[in-house]
Amino acid sequence: MVSKDSGLSSATRSCAAIILAAGEGTRMKSDIPKVLHEIANLSMIGHVIMMVQEAGVDTLIAVIGPGREDVRAEILKLCPSAKIVVQEQRLGTAHAVLAAKHEIGERFDDLLVLFADTPLLRAETLQSLRKPLSSGAAVVALGFDAENPAGYGRILTEGDRMIAIREHKDATEAEREVTLCNSGLMALDGKLAIGLIEAIENKNSQREFYLTDVVEIANRRGLASFYRVADEQEVMGVNDRVQLSRAEAVFQGRLRNGAMLAGVTMTAPETVFLSFDTRFGRDVHVEPHVVFGRGVSVGDNVRVKAFSYFEETKIAEQAEIGPFARLRPGTELGVGVKIGNFVEVKKSVIGDGAKINHLSYIGDATIGARSNIGAGTITCNYDGFFKYTTIIGEDAFIGANSSLLAPISIGNGAFVGSGSVVTDDVPANALALARGKQVVKLEWATAFREKARAKKARK
Ligand code: UD1
Ligand code: MG
Repeated sequence: MVSKDSGLSSATRSCAAIILAAGEGTRMKSDIPKVLHEIANLSMIGHVIMMVQEAGVDTLIAVIGPGREDVRAEILKLCPSAKIVVQEQRLGTAHAVLAAKHEIGERFDDLLVLFADTPLLRAETLQSLRKPLSSGAAVVALGFDAENPAGYGRILTEGDRMIAIREHKDATEAEREVTLCNSGLMALDGKLAIGLIEAIENKNSQREFYLTDVVEIANRRGLASFYRVADEQEVMGVNDRVQLSRAEAVFQGRLRNGAMLAGVTMTAPETVFLSFDTRFGRDVHVEPHVVFGRGVSVGDNVRVKAFSYFEETKIAEQAEIGPFARLRPGTELGVGVKIGNFVEVKKSVIGDGAKINHLSYIGDATIGARSNIGAGTITCNYDGFFKYTTIIGEDAFIGANSSLLAPISIGNGAFVGSGSVVTDDVPANALALARGKQVVKLEWATAFREKARAKKARK
């Protein structure tokens, strides 16, 4: 697994992260599994995987439900070395960890337990959760001060020690007064974890094997348990689509702030939507109401004007785009390219300094440097069955309202007269005119009006 330097004093300790994704609620009301729902165009489980990689974990283990091949595929796409185990029956969080018992064994110094439906956790928080393990802690839980603690497990403490985690359903009235709640995320001594978890029983109101019981078991064995406190927002779980939208809002806020702090100006950041993988150069200016889909990179000094929408597009420096531009997958804009209003570009490479300023559709095309594509130019790239390419050379001039019937090629420096329907290749520096020849009949209108008025008078 690719991992950055974690900056931990415990960096030499081996570490595995286990992501639990086998419990599937019904509140998403969805045909796709909860953990594949997306935040900023990346699945929730994808967020957890990326965070784990950023935190410098060596081995990733995921526990999925039976038949969840789609979840397996998503995990392997993002982390081909991940070990995936299936929990056949949903018998609780401790049972889920034990499904991966053979992958864990006593192989790791540290074991981190994460939930796939808790996608906003940051790598720094995970690292601070892990830290006490290097000074002898057996269990470290991540807590938060809940605004409304109902439903959560409560962390019972004595000084900086953790005595127990009590699930809400099993808590006494007094324990329910505690507002320090369990996020569910935990760091465990990797050599002791399996032994401790195997001692967990399901003698509780839900007849489940609760991972949280590991705290009392560790304490009974004279081992130390601690807790860390995170921001409630960071450990929020997503169970329905209202929570999904809240997580999206939080994550968008992080992405916008990250971009602005790295040198992007946003006039109205709350109206700009980014993807987990959007990349910006310096001195990019993004006007209001712009959506960056997956896979967009923007070079230095680019200006993106209002109401534009991009997906899988590379934009080189100094380009000017919009307002109302749509750049679809496979678009590459060269240095200083201008894309104006109501222009759609798909799977096309636009050379340095080229201009497509108004009302055009450019698809499956290559346009050379400095060419000017007039208003209303359409590349006719599709015959209902196949797609064809249009090649336009450098310094070409395509007159307004031209249709270019692909496959077609227009040479360097060629001109296409306005309103042409171009069906054959145009050589370099030639002029192509493919439109009806203009006919002028002098005084025709005067004669027509006279005749028409006379006809009307007779009625
Ligand atoms: C868990 C914690 C609770 C904490 C809460 C925070 C336990 C026993 N309780 O409760 O203290 O306050 O999270 O949201 O850990 N899972 C499996 N297999 C199972 C059961 C669960 O993979 O058999 C996975 C789920 O997919 C989910 C995670 O474990 O990712 C947590 O399960 P969930 O049922 O949501 O636990 P809570 O009852 O919310
Ligand atoms: Mg839960």
